[in-house]
Amino acid sequence: MLELKNITKTFGSVTANNDVSIRIEKGTIHAIVGENGAGKSTIMRIAYGFYKADSGEIFVDGKPVSIKSPQDAINLGIGMVHQHFMLVDTMSVGENIILGAEGGNAASIDWKKANADILALSNELRLGVNPKAMIEDLSVGAQQRVELLKALYRNAELLILDEPTAVLTPQEVEDFFNILRRMREQGKTIVIITHKLEEVLAISDDVTVMRDGRVVGNVKTADTNRQELARMIVGRDVLLRVEKTDASPRDTVLRIENLTVKGKHGEALNGVSFDVRAGEIVGIAGIEGNGQTELIEAIAGLIPVESGRIELDGRDLTRMSVRQRTERGIAHIPEDRHKRGLLLESDLEENSILGVHYRPPVAAAGGFLNSTVIEKRTREIIENFDVRPPNPQLAAKSLSGGNQQKLIIGREFELNPKLLLVSQPTRGVDIGAIEFIHRKLIGLRDAGSAVLLVSAELEEVTALADRLLVIYKGKFVGEVDPKTVSKEEIGLMMTGGKK
Ligand SMILES: Nc1ncnc2c1ncn2[C@@H]1O[C@H](COP(=O)(O)OP(=O)(O)O)[C@@H](O)[C@H]1O
Ligand SMILES: [Mg+2]
Repeated sequence: MLELKNITKTFGSVTANNDVSIRIEKGTIHAIVGENGAGKSTIMRIAYGFYKADSGEIFVDGKPVSIKSPQDAINLGIGMVHQHFMLVDTMSVGENIILGAEGGNAASIDWKKANADILALSNELRLGVNPKAMIEDLSVGAQQRVELLKALYRNAELLILDEPTAVLTPQEVEDFFNILRRMREQGKTIVIITHKLEEVLAISDDVTVMRDGRVVGNVKTADTNRQELARMIVGRDVLLRVEKTDASPRDTVLRIENLTVKGKHGEALNGVSFDVRAGEIVGIAGIEGNGQTELIEAIAGLIPVESGRIELDGRDLTRMSVRQRTERGIAHIPEDRHKRGLLLESDLEENSILGVHYRPPVAAAGGFLNSTVIEKRTREIIENFDVRPPNPQLAAKSLSGGNQQKLIIGREFELNPKLLLVSQPTRGVDIGAIEFIHRKLIGLRDAGSAVLLVSAELEEVTALADRLLVIYKGKFVGEVDPKTVSKEEIGLMMTGGKK
């Protein structure tokens, strides 16, 4: 269906693609894997006419083609769904799909027919998309299905999906993969860019592995396994299992009593009680949206508590400000890096001191910032947490997701917290960095901090946690031993089945 031959593409001094050749067979699901910055998006954006290659050739159905713009790609039956959706929030699904696809102006469009066509297409693949819904009212998962529809509406035969699952919950991923399988049954060809090994193994027929701008492997999915893929991706053996000794918990650090928190749609957290002790990691497993976000945010002081009590080292901090809590020893690695974790336009130095910028040693007498301290602190974080590129003056937004995460983790670890609240620590992070982050979290536990961990990745939370609480609809449905519990058992509890 598509062949990319000897493609090279540079951006200034960076060689994003170095003599890359990939063959995509018709009617298959082809995974492209590799760490952040490996060149995956670039090669597929070249196929979509978003970038122009410096050299190399592209063939569609065996014929050489010239793809100079996305329109050229669309005319050749190639569609792409980007990592960041390109939908207009304030317009309807139908409007988003039609605009740009139909010639002429909006007034000349037969909206009734267009919406009916969209609905038919949606029903055919069981996407559950209503053409009249407003984009802003849709979940992220639904918005992604709109993006799929948009490409299909333009008659895409080959669909390129750039990290489509990064924004989905485990349940949504499952549904999404079923949609992809149905599309394959219809004869469509799919290229899926991802860095999650389980996903490659679950969904793809073929895998191309990229590293540092090159193709380093090309295998049939059936002929490979996690370990081999990980080795190709990272370029060395990777520890896929988390190695840790048993915890030796000491005094109770965090005590939660009967905590009730209101969310956007009624009670998000409903009378929850538990403890976290020094030297242990308590994990919270659950499908996203069952109160775990509110739990963490309430403990961090970001949202108010309806009733109940939060104690740190025996002292009530239920009504304290975020700053007071930070000063008493709470650090927080938030689930939404962009909203809560970083100032994207600011450089690494400024981001390294968020939360401590107002007090010594960062703030000097007279309210001035102590640049020597700041520089030293930033350097330390960069070094200890392997933040790349190691340039303190770089804007946070120019780092990859994995490196942004390492920067946040480094900053919070610098606080030497009594209690670390950590949500989705490795979301959107590549394999090499995941191993690194997991080791750091266990290191913090072993140094005596209490850690409260929320993760939508079941594997992650069972591997890291010493004790595991399962949350469903704002309540704990049980505590399990992460060492012995089965995936099925937790899965059942996550959907409300009691232990
Ligand atoms: N528009 C761009 N301008 C400059 N550099 C870029 C651009 N797009 C990608 N790069 C660089 O090219 C390399 C490959 O990036 P990319 O293809 O996005 O990797 P991946 O999708 O595998 O994470 C990275 O070093 C990245 O910083
Ligand atoms: Mg990418």
